[in-house]
Amino acid sequence: MTEIDFLPTPYLQTVETGTVSYKSPSNIALVKYWGKKENQIPQNPSISFTLDACATTTQVSFKKLEHKGVGFSFDLWFEGQQKEDFKPKINTFFSRIEQYLPFLKEYHFKIETSNSFPHSSGIASSASGMSALALCLMDIEKKLVGHMSAAFFIKKASFLARLGSGSACRSIEGTIVQWGAHKNTQGSSDLYGIKYPYEVHANFNNFQDTILLVDKGQKQVSSTVGHNLMHDHPYASERFKQAHDNLDKLMAVFKTGDLVEFIKIVESEALTLHAMMMTSLPYFILMKPNTLEIINKIWAFREQTGSHVCFTLDAGANVHVLYPENEKQKVYQFIKDELLVYCENQQYICDQIALGAKQLAGNHP
Ligand code: PMV
Repeated sequence: MTEIDFLPTPYLQTVETGTVSYKSPSNIALVKYWGKKENQIPQNPSISFTLDACATTTQVSFKKLEHKGVGFSFDLWFEGQQKEDFKPKINTFFSRIEQYLPFLKEYHFKIETSNSFPHSSGIASSASGMSALALCLMDIEKKLVGHMSAAFFIKKASFLARLGSGSACRSIEGTIVQWGAHKNTQGSSDLYGIKYPYEVHANFNNFQDTILLVDKGQKQVSSTVGHNLMHDHPYASERFKQAHDNLDKLMAVFKTGDLVEFIKIVESEALTLHAMMMTSLPYFILMKPNTLEIINKIWAFREQTGSHVCFTLDAGANVHVLYPENEKQKVYQFIKDELLVYCENQQYICDQIALGAKQLAGNHP
């Protein structure tokens, strides 16, 4: 499919007013997206586990305007309070997607949104937030078009979410989503995420992710700045090639269930992401001393016990501790005994992989 396929068909229905609502999760990348071209087109394919507990709930109430507006007409409420400072981001998002959703200027929207995780946890809410909003907007479009297949609905929601925040396109479905054209993945596209289409070994069922909140502060490098650092990066082309190779390796791992190989790929991807930041100009170190303490403890625990626990990182200091469900008790005990001391106020979030966004009945946030 190309961009043109996402232009709308004529709106045959008239809808004056209504309310739609979705809950959408965050996701954690195993092969990382870092570097993009214009219009949020990724420089390399990425793949992620869809999470469950870390999620955004969004409700959009809409009312037809008497006359089509010049700009976009909306109010934004975040966790029960009107938030003027979040509006420019939504305005930019609306401008980017308007050609695909021409009804946007014909309605007034009240967007009410809330996160399941604390706002200042250092957990990015853009993936869950943008995917929840994209789904709500698609639900409105579906009412206007009259009929839309479930497959197209999901694809276009992912396509729109991508224009809000790249990784958001991986938060519509679960449990594993791939985004970015890759020669060995049928149906893969730079324009939207797809549910991983091949066999996945039972070792990955209910895979656990305990997120250790090492630094809850504001992100030191926004992802826009971060992605831009890859433009003149001396190692960029090798990195983009490596992501394709790591994806191939991970696909083999998903089939065989080889957790030792899984660990190698996932940890190497996390460290490579940070290595890219350390070797760009300007350069950044986004890990904190406690991030390294945790990594060393995980390595020591694995060495001592033969556990299959491993870590991955986002563009920040927090650590995602990944482990199979059958090691849940053992690893959770280890986390409590040895890792929580490195978290800010001992804070952490227990999460696991899940099926993706859910439609809600309305009146939720
Ligand atoms: O979606 P963005 O633009 O916030 O970028 C996310 C980038 C990483 O989280 C670091 C990696 C990824 O693939 O999610």
